[in-house]
Amino acid sequence: MMDANTLTIALSKGRILEDTLPLLAQAGIEPLEDPDKTRKLILDTTREDVKIVVVRTTDVPTYVQHGAAAVGVAGKDVLMEHGAAGLYEPLDLGIARCRMMLAGHPGQQPDPGTRLRIATKFVNIARNYFASQGRQVEIVKLYGSMELAPLVGLADYIVDLVDTGNTLRANGLEPLEEIAPISSRLIVNQAAMKMRHGLIQNLIENLREAVTPAT
Ligand code: ATP
Ligand code: PRP
Ligand code: MG
Repeated sequence: MMDANTLTIALSKGRILEDTLPLLAQAGIEPLEDPDKTRKLILDTTREDVKIVVVRTTDVPTYVQHGAAAVGVAGKDVLMEHGAAGLYEPLDLGIARCRMMLAGHPGQQPDPGTRLRIATKFVNIARNYFASQGRQVEIVKLYGSMELAPLVGLADYIVDLVDTGNTLRANGLEPLEEIAPISSRLIVNQAAMKMRHGLIQNLIENLREAVTPAT
């Protein structure tokens, strides 16, 4: 167990770790081991009272919700999909920017009489988006490679993240509607925010300075 004086930060491998480490470094927090090389999941840092845990992207809100990590960094997509109940979201880190999009074949005019089939790993985001527009759809849950679904007739459209659009283009698809702009957010456990206000507020302010370009 981690003691009450340790502040644990949940991060995920890949983009979030890569883009968050420079911000943490500016806040005086650097892992003592290279997170890309070590097999360890709990990393000590240059601050004795701060540890980093490395978890799957979709698990970050769960760790923070349950207080297993006091704070974490997660994409807005992950937070929207998860629901993020019981979490504070005090800071947009402005990293891992992309857009949640509806995408499909160019010029596609689906038969208005049929119920559209949407393939996605973001089933809650997709359901809420179409419900808010009063559009009836059937959602097919996938775990990755969504771009394949319209090519093989599994779905009419996909809901997925788009940055450069290269993945869509490479598969003959195009972005159609923007559902939400996405970036990564600092998230904080609500009880931790109360009990350890000073420590966490200090981290938030240091990260805010790291994120905000000096004027
Ligand atoms: P895994 O590969 O383990 O399934 P993942 O695909 O969720 O994980 P990443 O690709 O590292 O993990 O994405 C982390 C976050 O970065 C996403 O939740 C999203 O907010 C953002 N993101 C995803 N793809 C892109 C992209 N192409 N460009 C910019 N940001 C992105
Ligand atoms: C993400 C996302 C899209 C792609 C969009 O995949 O799931 O497929 O990026 O980026 P683009 O518009 O610049 O092509 P990622 O690279 O994270 O691979 P993954 O399938 O391993 O998540
Ligand atoms: Mg990815």
